[in-house]
Amino acid sequence: MHFTMKDEILKRFLNANGEPISGQVLADELQVSRTAIWKHLQTLKQEGYEFETVKKRGYKLVTVPDKVDMGQLQQFLKTTRYGRQVHYFESVESTQLVAHELVREGAPDGTVIIAEHQTAGRGRMMREWESSEGKGIWMTIIIRPEIAPHQAPQFTLVTAVAVVNAMKAMFKNFTPEIKWPNDILIKGKKTTGILTEMVAEADRIQALLIGIGINVNQQMDDFPEALQSIATSIAIEEGEPIERVHLVANVLDFLEHYSDMYVKNGFGFIKTLWEESSGTIGKRVKATTLREVVEGEAISITENGVLEIRQANGEVKGIYSADIEI
Ligand code: BTN
Repeated sequence: MHFTMKDEILKRFLNANGEPISGQVLADELQVSRTAIWKHLQTLKQEGYEFETVKKRGYKLVTVPDKVDMGQLQQFLKTTRYGRQVHYFESVESTQLVAHELVREGAPDGTVIIAEHQTAGRGRMMREWESSEGKGIWMTIIIRPEIAPHQAPQFTLVTAVAVVNAMKAMFKNFTPEIKWPNDILIKGKKTTGILTEMVAEADRIQALLIGIGINVNQQMDDFPEALQSIATSIAIEEGEPIERVHLVANVLDFLEHYSDMYVKNGFGFIKTLWEESSGTIGKRVKATTLREVVEGEAISITENGVLEIRQANGEVKGIYSADIEI
């Protein structure tokens, strides 16, 4: 979505803090007819915004829907590229699938696909991802960095660091931690999953599709029973519901900043930030890979995002992909 006349109108109502705005003034300032203004207000009403007519003074905005609102998003963003093109859906199978299509169509760096609901959300290792309606942030960002295919796993760690630091900047009642490689946990329970997919040629990345799923406004009984002991949401931990659009904007701000720094300066500082927020390093872990189970102390991540585990016999093993129990 590009910034449209409707977004501009919405922006003015949001900035007016509940004060009325005259339709005529809006029409004059935006150089469109009053009918055009009225039509945009009708569209906003269909999207769940409610306006009241104030005699002789115009309209005032009285209700903002609980949606990840695209007009608001554009206002909150400080980025130059990420989130400047947004494809917003009420419901899709998976934002990753839409992203693959858009990559084929040449979508630019930073294009975001975001949905209120996914009917077939997917997680790592072909698992399902529970994406309940209107409660979480379900989005994919298309990134086109100038990096080689073997660097792609590092980008997952860039994303984890961006999400965790966006959360730390916004929420004070809990401390999120990264669980290797890319889960974000609060008090040991999962609040965020990251899925990175790649479209590449032999020596060049065409695009990374970074899928981020964040549990935001669920209450415990919104989660299926099987997840209740291992999942949580920001609202549960913070103690109040969250306006998702602020978190989306923050994640995109941090992600653009860290991605640019990573492409320019390499992985070193991301590794430091990752270790700073890690709940894995220094802990005893059990890693179940496709081939074996490795137990020991998680001692570091390498430049390639590989987790190093020191086993009881002193031998250090590098883990590329596994389920980790802490
Ligand atoms: C995991 O922890 O297994 C990764 C979960 C990733 C979920 C997100 S939600 C938005 C995007 N669309 C998907 O279908 N999956 C990712």
